[in-house]
Amino acid sequence: MTSTPTKGASRASHATRGEQDEEFRPGPDGLLLDVADLHVEFHTRDGVAHAINGVNLQLHEGETLALLGESGSGKSVTAQAIMGILDMPPAKIPRGRISYCGRDLLAMPEKQRRHIRGPHISMIFQDALSSLNPVFPVGWQIAEMFRVHRGMNRSDAYDEAVRLMEQVRIPAARERVKAFPHQFSGGMRQRIMIAMSIALDPAVLIADEPTTALDVTVQAQIMNLLQELQAERSMGLILITHDLGVVADVADRIAVMYAGRIMETAPVLDLYRQPAHAYTRGLIDSIPRLDQKGQELYAIGGLPPNLMNIPAGCEFNPRCRFAQDVCRRERPQLEEVAPGRLTACHFWREVMAEAETTGASGSDEGGVR
Ligand SMILES: Nc1ncnc2c1ncn2[C@@H]1O[C@H](COP(=O)(O)OP(=O)(O)O)[C@@H](O)[C@H]1O
Ligand code: SF4
Ligand SMILES: [Mg+2]
Repeated sequence: MTSTPTKGASRASHATRGEQDEEFRPGPDGLLLDVADLHVEFHTRDGVAHAINGVNLQLHEGETLALLGESGSGKSVTAQAIMGILDMPPAKIPRGRISYCGRDLLAMPEKQRRHIRGPHISMIFQDALSSLNPVFPVGWQIAEMFRVHRGMNRSDAYDEAVRLMEQVRIPAARERVKAFPHQFSGGMRQRIMIAMSIALDPAVLIADEPTTALDVTVQAQIMNLLQELQAERSMGLILITHDLGVVADVADRIAVMYAGRIMETAPVLDLYRQPAHAYTRGLIDSIPRLDQKGQELYAIGGLPPNLMNIPAGCEFNPRCRFAQDVCRRERPQLEEVAPGRLTACHFWREVMAEAETTGASGSDEGGVR
């Protein structure tokens, strides 16, 4: 695992995206995605839900970024905005920019955007069963991608489908290419989803809680597979999760979301060892630990805010044990606290100092499960 992205390594496989894709080359430092000041709101009968309130994040080639936050913090909406699959209306993007290889996706006509989805930016969803079509064999569904996007004939497309199923380690792929989704286990179905998501060799893969529906052993296998594929293909991977425990070994960097904003971003080990945001500190303290078996698990008190009525000042202040008056008045902006580390917390020094004296969660392991 590295804490810095692979710099400038242009992938040989880029060529397979065709000549028209010459214009989509990562920046000189390998920068693929640059999301700046993204806002998304949902206009509903009950009012306007401010789901995303100024998200900033960057993703480089060969880098795994974990997007972490409690349920409802805006992780999926951020992913859907990047993919261009938000239903608008009710969603609206009043402000912000999403750049892919220097091009603003939000300013692109839908026709061009369709060409980005799949061959450039691809996504794996949490629920493989509802994402796969139950009435078509899995091999057909994978092959169809090659037929539609690459113009392959039927037999070549099937061969490619088998090759991909083998790559995601589906046993006896050639015999099972004609099987239907319900004939596979949950873990195998998620492998098929992964095969489909990487079929067109995307530069960016977004995995939205890809293992949440699976049992723990299968979760680890799927995480390992994603990690291997990401490294082989030098993809930029955004791994969305609500579970800090599952990303420790996989991610290079973590971005912590709360109420539709990035609260802290840091290299993964730095964040575990010494969080620089009171909310991150709470998340780390809530990870179950082997050396504290039998003790009551710490949980952050209170609930995430109502997105139609976000508290003034810091969004986290009603739940924060570090909060002072300034937190109720002024919304902290992301600031750099160390190279590669940003945080939006008025009292990041105090939070960091506490970790220095006690260890982020009272032990050398920094609370990593
Ligand atoms: N289609 C929708 N209509 C109204 N509100 C929505 C819709 N989709 C998402 N939201 C709002 O956006 C918030 C963030 O959702 P989401 O990104 O799915 O959270 P998560 O971090 O759990 O993935 C939700 O709490 C919800 O209030
Ligand atoms: S800004 Fe204040 S309320 Fe917000 S997380 Fe930091 S200390 Fe807590
Ligand atoms: Mg979600």
